[in-house]
Amino acid sequence: MKITVVGAGAVGASCAEYIAIKNFASEVVLVDIKENFAEGKAMDLMQTASLNGFDTKIIGSTNDYSKTAGSDIAVITSGIPRKPGMTREELIGINAGIVKSVSTNLIKYSPNVILIIVSNPMDTMTYLALKSTKLPKNRIIGMGGALDSARFKYRLSEALGCPASDISAMVIGGHSDIGMLPLTRLATRNSIRVSELLSHDKIEQIKQDTKVGGATLTSMLGTSAWYAPGAAVSSLVQSIACDQHKMFPCSVMLEGEYGLSNLAIGVPVILGKNGVEKIEEIELSEEEKSQLSLSAEGVLKTNDILVDMGLF
Ligand code: LAC
Repeated sequence: MKITVVGAGAVGASCAEYIAIKNFASEVVLVDIKENFAEGKAMDLMQTASLNGFDTKIIGSTNDYSKTAGSDIAVITSGIPRKPGMTREELIGINAGIVKSVSTNLIKYSPNVILIIVSNPMDTMTYLALKSTKLPKNRIIGMGGALDSARFKYRLSEALGCPASDISAMVIGGHSDIGMLPLTRLATRNSIRVSELLSHDKIEQIKQDTKVGGATLTSMLGTSAWYAPGAAVSSLVQSIACDQHKMFPCSVMLEGEYGLSNLAIGVPVILGKNGVEKIEEIELSEEEKSQLSLSAEGVLKTNDILVDMGLF
């Protein structure tokens, strides 16, 4: 199993590190445009192999996509991250051109690749990758919901004073501060609804903290987070690489599911060797349905900017 990670910045490097530590891939290729940067990160990571006990070979490449040839899965983290006070949507001007050229370069050398998009604004970049590569929709997956759900579980576990592994919870909708939809109604601690364990106000607070989870870290760190994004990507990659059929909320192209079409937005999907094996259509409450359609409106508005930019 060969995996490419484009962008050797903090998110890309931690993604490569978690993939290697989980030890399911034979090779990870890190690509960056900065001369020798990916090679340096790859060498540093390889020097942890004997310490962390993995056999995955990690190599770096300065923008040479021939090294990525035959990749089964490729992760795109390229572009600029948020600075404090910025929204993910503000990154579109710089990141759209980068995501378009990276995705077309990748499929030139790996026509059968499954793409995972991390660059922001993520839902719009997923839509752009679909439009630019014309790959079948099961092979383009936006990572956002898996990260947002991990942050939601963290907040719930903190409030309940229990390990996050006791929590089952999902965030669907757009990967934006406004568009995220933490499904508090369905969240449980070992099958017990969190509404039986926490007050309404506390749950509302958790919902809000989850939605601004990325922004909170950006203001603390001065740039956007990387450990949880890297770990979330590695879980998606593992489910595909090992055909695990795990369920994650991911941004995928919808064609009528949830009453939405012609956009990529976060909904629960099953990930296996073909990428998106299935989109799960769960029953939403009326309030959740209207929140999801508002979230979709936001994503569609951001997608319109791609047309204004003349990207397709
Ligand atoms: C975040 C970025 C990866 O939420 O969107 O941290």
